[in-house]
Amino acid sequence: MRAFITGGAGFIGSNLADSLLKRGYDVVVYDNFSTGHQRFIEHNLNNPAYHLVEADVLDKAILANSMRDCDIVFHFQANADVRGGIKNTLIDLEQNTIGTHNVLEAMKVNQIEKMVFASSATVYGDPEIIPTPETITPVQTSLYGASKYSAEAMIQAYCEYFEMKSWIFRFVSFMGPRYTHGVIFDFMKKLKQDPSSLHILGDGSQRKSYLHVEDGINAILLALEKSQDKVNIFNLGNKEWISVNDLADSLCSRLNLKDVEYTYSGGKRGWKGDTPFVHLDIQKISALGWKPRFSVKETIESTIHYLSVNEDLLFVRG
Ligand SMILES: NC(=O)c1ccc[n+]([C@@H]2O[C@H](COP(=O)([O-])OP(=O)(O)OC[C@H]3O[C@@H](n4cnc5c(N)ncnc54)[C@H](O)[C@@H]3O)[C@@H](O)[C@H]2O)c1
Repeated sequence: MRAFITGGAGFIGSNLADSLLKRGYDVVVYDNFSTGHQRFIEHNLNNPAYHLVEADVLDKAILANSMRDCDIVFHFQANADVRGGIKNTLIDLEQNTIGTHNVLEAMKVNQIEKMVFASSATVYGDPEIIPTPETITPVQTSLYGASKYSAEAMIQAYCEYFEMKSWIFRFVSFMGPRYTHGVIFDFMKKLKQDPSSLHILGDGSQRKSYLHVEDGINAILLALEKSQDKVNIFNLGNKEWISVNDLADSLCSRLNLKDVEYTYSGGKRGWKGDTPFVHLDIQKISALGWKPRFSVKETIESTIHYLSVNEDLLFVRG
């Protein structure tokens, strides 16, 4: 099997590339390194089963050419910044929705029948039902969520029109090795700059669930093997959640920082479009025999450990 991974030099995509290589796949990574890192992939560069294409998903000709002879596409490229849409109302449409359309077109040209898509819990907006099952009708509260939901819809339509199958994963925030954006990243960066205070977006009462990247990838590969509908949609999350205030407390205690003064931007949401309570119903993926190996606490600890030993990542982007 030859797998094509868009965004394969990023946090999740590079971990996925490593897992697929271990399972005997040939891997083509397609990435423009806008937020990806050379250091996440360099250990694979001499592996004959690993191929890197440094290019943009918006470049349709290179995209279609690079996909030749692949059997499956893992579409993990995106503008993964969930907060940016309010300042730049075009970026999610362009990078996430049109980017996905370009990937689908390149698959069509190359007659590739399988697509795995990194969607997001954000598609549920601010759901009334918690834990949130895959079956609710999502109402959008952010352009990032809307762009992922539109991409999902387009993938479903391509599966209807052409000989394609898809596996769509709506996931909570992933953490673990190579984590380069999100709440712990922001907090550690702020505390590095000023260990006496921490500015928290919202009132700190937001509750979020986190999943270790290794658990997430295992779930994706299991669903790919065991679920064979035309369109397979799965939530991926953990059984528990933690409040932002509790997460800040664990981080400060883990970094041996005492008497850190918390300040707040206020309100129930960290930003417009933020979901105050993210907790997904994971019965559907669990029914396939998957369960997370890492608790939320262990996931957070491994992330703090990773960023502590790779502290320079806090200050480089891309
Ligand atoms: N990290 C999370 O917690 C999380 C949660 C839900 C969904 N997702 C989704 O999972 C996927 C991977 O997220 P991540 O956290 O690894 O993000 P990331 O930013 O680390 O990875 C994205 C990768 O895509 C590349 N890229 C971006 N735009 C590109 C373009 N136009 N052409 C080619 N390459 C491009 C970047 O260089 C980067 O390597 C994304 O689709 C994201 O929306 C992530």
